[in-house]
Amino acid sequence: MEALARLVAQQDLAGQRVLVTAGPTHEDLDPVRFLTNRSTGKMGYALARVAWRRGASVTLVSGPTNLPDPYGVEVMRVRSAGEMLIEVKGRFPAVEALIMAAAVGDYRAETLAEKKMKRGADSQQIKLVQNADILKEVAPLKKHQVVVGFAAETGNLVAEAERKLLEKNLDLIVANDVNQPDSGFAVDTNEVTLVSREAAPQKLPLLTKEEVADYILDWMAPRLNGRQKGSVFV
Ligand code: CTP
Repeated sequence: MEALARLVAQQDLAGQRVLVTAGPTHEDLDPVRFLTNRSTGKMGYALARVAWRRGASVTLVSGPTNLPDPYGVEVMRVRSAGEMLIEVKGRFPAVEALIMAAAVGDYRAETLAEKKMKRGADSQQIKLVQNADILKEVAPLKKHQVVVGFAAETGNLVAEAERKLLEKNLDLIVANDVNQPDSGFAVDTNEVTLVSREAAPQKLPLLTKEEVADYILDWMAPRLNGRQKGSVFV
């Protein structure tokens, strides 16, 4: 079915290499416990599927999910933010676009307990240290690439997205209010606002995640096709 979908789809991403990240990350505390978040990977997997149908060569760097590998897509499975950073940084120079849909953990435990932590005192403290911001690490490597981020917010949606667009040197940020029941984590629909540098924020209606993916790729395709690979005039 996926191969047929590609046959009939507009091939406006033909020849483009697209790197997508998806899912949560797991930051281990001990051999049986970890810190994570509510992301299930559905938005990133939808992006990978739709980009492949539209002709792109797609690599998906995925945190732990229960989703099947999308047909035709190269899938790299990782667990932690540190592992995701290595995969994304290593692959970024060879792609035309990066879409960071993953909900990357911002913190990890300062020390990893080698043995299972036992119930003991009435309260316990775990010291957390910051993980690297993958988008900020990749920004200095940016040449011709189009870079898209996501902003999962529970308030000040557009203002927060605009701040992240500039701070992370993005071309587009997809902002979603994860407080809405039909939007954000673990559902098949999403209601997002596209925030770019050149136009007013574009609020999209409630759509399936594949439809949202098509809107993002509609925004991206002309910009990719207008940029000459390896040129400094981009
Ligand atoms: N991101 C990243 N590396 C991180 C954290 C986030 O590359 N360590 C990326 C996400 O994949 C997303 C964008 O940055 O595309 C925004 O993620 P978000 O969690 O909304 O923002 P943070 O920068 O973590 O800010 P905060 O959690 O304070 O809202």
